[in-house]
Amino acid sequence: MANWHFWGEKEFSDVYENIYIRSVMEDWYNIVFEFVKQINSVKKDKKILLDVGCGEGHTTKQILDRINGSYECDLLEPNQNALSTAEAFLTPENNIGKIYPRSLGTFKPDRKYDIIFTSHTNYYWALNQKDYDRQLQKLIELLDKNGKLIILTLPENSDHYQIMLREIYPKFNYAEHIINFYKKIGLNVEVEKLKMKMFIGDILSTDKFFDLKIFYRFIHNTDSFPNDKESVDFLKKIQKCQKNNYLDFKDYLIVVSK
Ligand SMILES: C[S@@+](CC[C@H](N)C(=O)[O-])C[C@H]1O[C@@H](n2cnc3c(N)ncnc32)[C@H](O)[C@@H]1O
Repeated sequence: MANWHFWGEKEFSDVYENIYIRSVMEDWYNIVFEFVKQINSVKKDKKILLDVGCGEGHTTKQILDRINGSYECDLLEPNQNALSTAEAFLTPENNIGKIYPRSLGTFKPDRKYDIIFTSHTNYYWALNQKDYDRQLQKLIELLDKNGKLIILTLPENSDHYQIMLREIYPKFNYAEHIINFYKKIGLNVEVEKLKMKMFIGDILSTDKFFDLKIFYRFIHNTDSFPNDKESVDFLKKIQKCQKNNYLDFKDYLIVVSK
């Protein structure tokens, strides 16, 4: 697929190539506004933030642009190319602190944080539950006293998980595991249950499989295209889940404090 350099912000690549144009803008910005509300409710002269897995920094900017008062935000991202893009994209208008080309597992912090936030990154933190729970524990240890951890991820009943032909993400990735983990160790956990609708009317209104196959790759986190049988099975699952040409990924914003 060609990269449209004149339209930098919407350069689609790999399995993400069609996902951003499917999401309902208003649903996404309601999620951004919830992040912002949570961050703005922390009263401090200067807030020290960390974005875990900032990618190219688009979500980071949507959030930082709306923060009241003084702040400094560190960036953590294992993909060096994405991090360089984020740095160039964010530094002109946002207060960026330290930049770490690291995964959460290998991150060695230089300071504690008032707010740690992360948007759709938990799926990639670990391959087994023991290591995953270690990351959950680590995030709490990175918080300063009165600090807040904000994790955006999908619940078990998300249409994303319902339409998959096979389990790609082990169940410990689901929002419910994170919520239970933190409740069990006595932390305060608030959960905002948000909508994240995706338009799939294009896929449902044609007997051609082009967009269906691209959507399959995103949902199954793979570069491989489905065969014809998998395509038909995937289409049936989408048809069953959809309401008025939309799926709902149902994002949960999990807010944890000590
Ligand atoms: C779906 S993208 C989300 C990017 C961004 N947070 C957003 O919401 O637009 C997932 C990001 O997590 C990053 N990531 C992968 N493994 C990670 C890890 N172990 N620790 C931190 N981030 C990781 C990826 O490189 C990628 O940038």
